[in-house]
Amino acid sequence: MSSLRSVLSTLSKNPLVLQVRKRTFKGTTTYWEDRYAKGGTSGAGSYGREAEWKAEIVNDWVAELGVTSVVDLGCGDGNQLGLAKYPRYLGLDPSATAVRLCMERFRDDPTKSFIAYDPSALADPAGWLRGDLALSMEVIFHLVEDALFENYMTRVFESAERYVIICSNATVDDEQVSHERHRDFTKWVEENRPEWVLDRRVDPPSDVNLQSSFFLYKKKDL
Ligand SMILES: C[S@@+](CC[C@H](N)C(=O)[O-])C[C@H]1O[C@@H](n2cnc3c(N)ncnc32)[C@H](O)[C@@H]1O
Repeated sequence: MSSLRSVLSTLSKNPLVLQVRKRTFKGTTTYWEDRYAKGGTSGAGSYGREAEWKAEIVNDWVAELGVTSVVDLGCGDGNQLGLAKYPRYLGLDPSATAVRLCMERFRDDPTKSFIAYDPSALADPAGWLRGDLALSMEVIFHLVEDALFENYMTRVFESAERYVIICSNATVDDEQVSHERHRDFTKWVEENRPEWVLDRRVDPPSDVNLQSSFFLYKKKDL
């Protein structure tokens, strides 16, 4: 299994494969809906040891900080969510297929709600979709388009009353590679949300194969 993973990983970095993927890329939202509709998943980072580590960090912080509700922007197929311990939860994702998978999987769980949304057709100044904590796990480096990135970052911080947890990569590599584009989102927060402060950062341990770290932001006036 791990040798298959390393072969696929090597192949996915081949320049020819990357060029073909870039040319056939139809945009972030279409990419993910097509992927789920064909039976694909949220990716390796949402399964196995990687998912366990992500859940450990978020569950510990949710308990320690006394978080009462979580709004998850980009909830995915629900495998990662299966490990979560949250008092009250709202998951949003532009992929209706992913949201239906979550609805089916958690149909007997009265603490979890889901919405499929069009990022360009959602405004929530009244805060109907706001929670104590907004969560973004392995979404930011998948946002290839500038407008989508800007829209998403705004939505994440608008969705939080007290805390924001981001699991992503802050390393800049501002070139689209396949369905990824890496940006320093911490700079965006510094420049656009000065009322939020970075409280903690945790990097993955050596047995976790993730390029993402965890970043906990809290509102300055708390
Ligand atoms: C790698 S998966 C991560 C799923 C989940 N957060 C996890 O950690 O298992 C990335 C998810 O981001 C979603 N996504 C793409 N564009 C988005 C956007 N503008 N807003 C919210 N989610 C988005 C995709 O549909 C996909 O489900």
